[in-house]
Amino acid sequence: MLGIGRQNQLVGLDVGSYAIKAAELSRKTKGGADFFVVNKLGYEILPRDAIVEGTIMDTAAVAETIKMIFEENKISAKNVVISVSGNSVIIKKLSLPAMEKEELAESIFWEAKHSIPYPYEETNVDYAILPSPLSPGQQNLDILLVAAKKDKIANYTNAIHQANKNPEAIEVDVFALLNAIEINYPEVMSEKNICIINLGASLTNVIIAEKGIPQLFRDLPLGGSLFTENLSKELNLGFDDAEKAMKGFPLENGLLDKSKTALNLNIQNLLEEISKTFSFYESADGKENKIESIFLCGGLSNLSELPARFEQKFSIESKILNPFRKITCDKKKFDSIYFDELGAQFGVVVGLATRYAGK
Ligand SMILES: Nc1ncnc2c1ncn2[C@@H]1O[C@H](COP(=O)(O)OP(=O)(O)OP(=O)(O)O)[C@@H](O)[C@H]1O
Ligand SMILES: [Mg+2]
Repeated sequence: MLGIGRQNQLVGLDVGSYAIKAAELSRKTKGGADFFVVNKLGYEILPRDAIVEGTIMDTAAVAETIKMIFEENKISAKNVVISVSGNSVIIKKLSLPAMEKEELAESIFWEAKHSIPYPYEETNVDYAILPSPLSPGQQNLDILLVAAKKDKIANYTNAIHQANKNPEAIEVDVFALLNAIEINYPEVMSEKNICIINLGASLTNVIIAEKGIPQLFRDLPLGGSLFTENLSKELNLGFDDAEKAMKGFPLENGLLDKSKTALNLNIQNLLEEISKTFSFYESADGKENKIESIFLCGGLSNLSELPARFEQKFSIESKILNPFRKITCDKKKFDSIYFDELGAQFGVVVGLATRYAGK
């Protein structure tokens, strides 16, 4: 995606505003079927305010953290794939009449010029043709158009270069997540209408796909940082202590009830925001769309009983995404934390790494 050619054997690097995650996987074949093996994993929390509202403010801190992850986890490869998201990234679904390849590319870029809310010269544009679920007589092609602002990409690639790594490919968080689901839950992806909700620190990505075909993307400007800020105000605690409270660490007498109430209110707000997206999807196109399965991921999805809260609110089966469900991994080689507490934070990076896994 995003104009940079596909290569094999790249290390997936998810530069989140809270933590950087790294994963290197290889692709193997057995009995004619492909599978993936984890070679390397890494995770490091960033200093607060190193990335603010999707912009790297402290390039040196991000670069140092990347270097540290590679050194500590003995990742020797230098070529990486990163991903971007947020309001500098626009994803649009287009429907165009079937036509020759070159003509199609021209039409898509014409559409891009006219429908992207940024000057065309300031964006990198790419597209993918979606598989059509309709009858063979169908004349239209469904296209996903992706445009990312060049300054956003430069902001991230600068930090990667400063860490002495080569950003060989740029992806978008939501496609990486779709990839992670396709590999780990192929039966659900191909048969059901699913919604993936990636609850990060500054952003919540919402993706809806019908039987494997993406239909709707939303990046909501809310996440764990907002929860922590609200908790910090309500409980009169510093940011770090408020975060501990959010993670369920024991609290002084008297604060526990207050913390539960504040968290509950934040969760209600989150569910309301998600509900608006669901209503928009369910009423679109005049058809009766229905979501059948919800996958939660991202650090905030670790909040106690969050899947149950989603099930209560929407009456839809909800679970935490396990990005290693169908991936072979020698668990003796890695800290178990990657598969327990941190598992939900590895959705994007596993999706990136599988896409660019080497043999
Ligand atoms: N056990 C936990 N319970 C509740 N919240 C948690 C827990 N662990 C982490 N978080 C929160 O999850 C967020 C980090 O999640 P994640 O790593 O997915 O974000 P990110 O990818 O760095 O951010 P973004 O993509 O929004 O830039 C933080 O706000 C953190 O406080
Ligand atoms: Mg993230």
